[in-house]
Amino acid sequence: MIRKAVIPAAGFGTRMLPATKSQPKEMMPVVDKPVIQYVVEEAVASGVTDILMVISKGKRAIEDHFDRSYELEAQLEEKGKADLLASVKRISSMANIHFVWQKELNGLGDAISYAKYHVGNEPFAVLLGDTIMDSLGDPVLLQLIEQYEMTKASVVAMERVSMDKVHRYGIIDGEDVGNDLFKARSFVEKPNAADAPSNLAIGGRYIFTPEIFTYLEQIDRGVNNEIQLTDAMRMMLQDHDMYGYVYEGTRYDVGNTLDFIKTNIALGLRRADLGPALEDWLKVLMANNRI
Ligand code: UTP
Repeated sequence: MIRKAVIPAAGFGTRMLPATKSQPKEMMPVVDKPVIQYVVEEAVASGVTDILMVISKGKRAIEDHFDRSYELEAQLEEKGKADLLASVKRISSMANIHFVWQKELNGLGDAISYAKYHVGNEPFAVLLGDTIMDSLGDPVLLQLIEQYEMTKASVVAMERVSMDKVHRYGIIDGEDVGNDLFKARSFVEKPNAADAPSNLAIGGRYIFTPEIFTYLEQIDRGVNNEIQLTDAMRMMLQDHDMYGYVYEGTRYDVGNTLDFIKTNIALGLRRADLGPALEDWLKVLMANNRI
């Protein structure tokens, strides 16, 4: 059973400036919910009951979002807005949510290492706080948990990317063991297309056995002078099996502007109350060549 999840959400969000100058990128709305609420909902729908968010200075809005808001609740109640009241109350009761503060923004690996004492000696999930995984079937985290239950080893989410994009990602060199599962031989950070061992990009969601903390403590600073999660994974692979799983779904890294816009359109089109009007408007926009 995976009960605990860690959501790193402390980063600067420089790629989304100026929007992120005074608000966390994880709180940017997609359609009508902040990004990080989609992430929490995916974790909860996958069976997680305990969530640790790694935050930093300037991320207060995340704490407030997952706290109860008695004034707002009272006002909605008074106005008879039952649906809104229920949706607002649900946010703070979805899971046990805890916070820890990353003192210096030393990278994703460093952020995860802050979860060591909270997680203890059990396997746990990591969900990036700025990444929405959209799936029409099982939530992507649940797909990984099912793989973990078979392998009892760390499993990372993978997606196929075109070869001209491999240089942007951590890429897995793995043995195909069937049913979209790959046993990792190595992880290569941002390779050139010519050197890439595959087009399988890692990221967004992970299940780790607790040994990952030992390796996070041992690694030196890597690319960008940051403690890189991929470096710890590569070191862990020398002693422990690790797997990559090609999930069913679409990954949206909402921390970059193009993906942010795409996510709003894709998820907006899916909504019964907004989709038809949005689709009509998009068709007119395209037909009039106003783009
Ligand atoms: P990113 O690398 O996308 O976040 O990390 P960033 O550093 O905020 O991005 P830019 O380049 O400045 O735009 C993925 C996730 O890991 C968190 C981020 O908040 C994001 O949710 N993160 C990253 C941390 O928690 N701590 C860090 O030191 C770095």
